Amino acid sequence: MSFQVGEKIYEGKAKVIFNVQNQPDLVYQEFKDSLTAFNGEKKGGFKSKGHLNRDITSIIFQRLSQKGVPNHWIENQGDTGMITKRVKIIPIEVVVRNIAAGSLAKRLGWEEGRKLSLPIMEFYYKNDNLGDPIINEDHIRILGLATDETLSEIRRMAKIINGELTQLFGACGLDLVDFKLEFGRTKNGEIILADEVSPDTCRLWDKTTKEKLDKDRFRRDLGNIEEAYRKVHERVELAVKKGANS
Ligand code: TMP
Ligand code: ASP
Repeated sequence: MSFQVGEKIYEGKAKVIFNVQNQPDLVYQEFKDSLTAFNGEKKGGFKSKGHLNRDITSIIFQRLSQKGVPNHWIENQGDTGMITKRVKIIPIEVVVRNIAAGSLAKRLGWEEGRKLSLPIMEFYYKNDNLGDPIINEDHIRILGLATDETLSEIRRMAKIINGELTQLFGACGLDLVDFKLEFGRTKNGEIILADEVSPDTCRLWDKTTKEKLDKDRFRRDLGNIEEAYRKVHERVELAVKKGANS
């Protein structure tokens, strides 16, 4: 279908959101080449990042749709754009962890790479001014961020997504260490997966070499950032083409 991009609504750290003319229930998302970390304090980027993250996200979102996980993806536009359903983002960042790393390893003094005996789900308050603090279900109730019913739906979906993504990345020779999800509510009140699933929002380690193939290469100045994102793109594309794990 042909869509006409309208005026800019919002610019985030990794994407710019626009209206779509005559389509009030849709938006156009432009994936940026910039990379930020530590709440925007560290800045960088590379030429094809927007394209790679758009492609990786769209492949994953289409896969999740096939597996019955509703999400905002409608269709890709050009190299870096995506038409999605318009949602109101629920201001909770949902992090699911399978292996200890990052802030969890630091907070509990756990060794990075420690396999967790069961996945851990965490919630963060999506609020840049506060630096996205970790919160629990009581904070969520008092802040009025989501009802108990909404939160249990989010938990249910995040659990299913963890299973599907672990399987998909597993078929790519990657360990899904942890990842962050955002959910939104459509005009009809349906809760769907939104935002993106990419090396910006997941930790992905090569199963054999344990090489980090995600944004930690940028956060930790490990080099070869573009090469890592390209590897993930290539492997995800191949796995889906082969129908691996279908
Ligand atoms: P963390 O270990 O720094 O808390 O990150 C957990 C996961 O969430 C990791 O895969 C990176 C992702 N993440 C984001 O997508 N956005 C963020 O702002 C942060 C802090 C983490
Ligand atoms: N997403 C955050 C930022 O862009 C933090 C991170 O991913 O490390 O600053």
